[in-house]
Amino acid sequence: MCGIVGYIGKQKALPILLDGIKTLEYRGYDSTGVAVLNNKINAPKIYYAKSAGRINVLEEKIAHQKNGIDGFAGIAHTRWATHGEPNEVNAHPHFDCKKQIFLAHNGIIENYKELKANLIKKGHKFSSETDTEVLVHMLEDERNENPGFLLEEAALKVLKKIKGTYGLVIIDAREPEKLVAVRNFSPLVLGIGDGEYIVASDASALLKYTRQIVFLHDGEIAVLTPEKHKIFNLRSESVTREPEKIEWTEEIAKKGDFPHFMLKEIFEQPEAIENSLRGRLLSKEGLVKLGGLESVQDKLREAERIIIAACGTAYLAGRVGEYIFEEYAGIPTEVDFASEFRYRKPVFRKNDILLVISQSGETADTLAALREAKQKNILTIGIVNVVGSSIARETDAGVYQHIGPEISVASTKAFTSALSILTLFSVFLGRQRGMSLTMGRRITEELGKIPDLIKQILKSKDQIFEIAKKYESYNNFLYLGRKYNMPIAQEGALKLKEISYVHAEGYGAGEMKHGPIAMINKEFPSVVIAPSDSVYEKMISNIEEVKARRGPIIAIATEGNKEIKQIVEEVIYIPKTLEMLTPILSVVPLQLFAYFVGVLRGVDIDQPKNLAKSVTVE
Ligand code: G6P
Repeated sequence: MCGIVGYIGKQKALPILLDGIKTLEYRGYDSTGVAVLNNKINAPKIYYAKSAGRINVLEEKIAHQKNGIDGFAGIAHTRWATHGEPNEVNAHPHFDCKKQIFLAHNGIIENYKELKANLIKKGHKFSSETDTEVLVHMLEDERNENPGFLLEEAALKVLKKIKGTYGLVIIDAREPEKLVAVRNFSPLVLGIGDGEYIVASDASALLKYTRQIVFLHDGEIAVLTPEKHKIFNLRSESVTREPEKIEWTEEIAKKGDFPHFMLKEIFEQPEAIENSLRGRLLSKEGLVKLGGLESVQDKLREAERIIIAACGTAYLAGRVGEYIFEEYAGIPTEVDFASEFRYRKPVFRKNDILLVISQSGETADTLAALREAKQKNILTIGIVNVVGSSIARETDAGVYQHIGPEISVASTKAFTSALSILTLFSVFLGRQRGMSLTMGRRITEELGKIPDLIKQILKSKDQIFEIAKKYESYNNFLYLGRKYNMPIAQEGALKLKEISYVHAEGYGAGEMKHGPIAMINKEFPSVVIAPSDSVYEKMISNIEEVKARRGPIIAIATEGNKEIKQIVEEVIYIPKTLEMLTPILSVVPLQLFAYFVGVLRGVDIDQPKNLAKSVTVE
């Protein structure tokens, strides 16, 4: 979703800003813009450019701009349209009537209509249809009414009048040595360089310049000059926060030799899972070590129900978690879309725990679900990748994924890592309850082998490409699975939709007869996940039912299963593992299949249309 970058310092701002928004491209966007403050001339002035479409369109425009865009402070933005079409006028940064104050925003201003009407009555001229533009006219209005106000004082007044979510960066030609950044429910991190500051929606845009990061909290305003920064909150109290060092390297956020981030991240899965498991498997004792949960282990011992809330692929990881927790930890588990959970009055019991899963740690609905549970005094646990993100900070305890940045909009390594951590968590909870030492050992030993097993599956890349070539022109797919692999059928279908724009449905195979079977014919292939597990025979019956209706079948099966080869068109083999761990393996060929179909159909894999990586608005 929208990406924000702000810079102030000793270097020319424009290249840094453009580079920053390019790093944030993966978040998803449809228009873009930049404003730079030339503070080294007599009457400091702000130059800007905006355009619909990709950043290269903006760059071309700037190259042809007569007066150039020069200066040492500035802001840039990639917009993912909410209010108003993705055109040049609606693109950020927005400006006031005198073009002195420029602002870029991520989030939604809920009460903008009434504020806008008020400002129009006062004579302000609006150019866009966005909710954001009210903010910049409100700043102007505060300045008009209180001519002595500093930019941050005007900002504070404005923030007290608005309702909504926002990450903001603001520059003002009257205060050329300053950049103001504000955060409220939309991510914003502050990178501290040597005589320079760079602010961005996420840390990946800062890695080139600094590893010293300050995570702004909700309701905080940062005032930056090239040499120093100060932070205060909406109550005007000053905030002191030590910078944290982030470990990610710049390379980790680059594609390297891979044509797309998605493929890179699919291939990173063995290493990503190793990192998620590192130091956590105590196989000899049949235990796991989850340092982040130690402070709440007594409460976890008493837990009587787990509620999992998440969105998208993280939600589907939660659905697998439901099977794992119930079978191995013996704890009743429910999973809900965070967007539903937050609005349906959930009934909590005393020993419930809420588990939220979120790669970014910033998904608005997941964060809201977490806050709802906290409000009700329920213990909250997170499985999160991005260190220091809102969800990571606000949960009572949690487990970090440690997989490095996930850039591809279609989540892959975060999914398999989350499944690995859910397995760890089930051993943690299980061993507090009835799970035997033998079972603890078995699970931890098998889990430790998963990275190598994924490496074996990745060797089938060429075979999967050939299958994708055969099936790329089909317009509908049905994905079927049972038990642990039912959510994997849904995840496989989700991947195909996201990356190839092909219609796909993921179903529990037992539900097939209650509807989807009506659509099966020779033009409607099914992808059937049928490892040799406790529901294999049932899956074979479902395969026969599809065959009887002449539906082509691609099956995911366990190595050594020759029988299935006789009855389906294509088989992709995965190695043998525990039934509970098969989802971590069976999803990998589905990721590759979706990727190749997308590539063959000419989809912009790393920037699929209309999707956003980090969904920071409802
Ligand atoms: C977006 C992304 C998905 C992701 C979901 C949840 O829809 O495109 O890939 O699964 O958000 O994101 P989270 O960061 O909370 O895991």
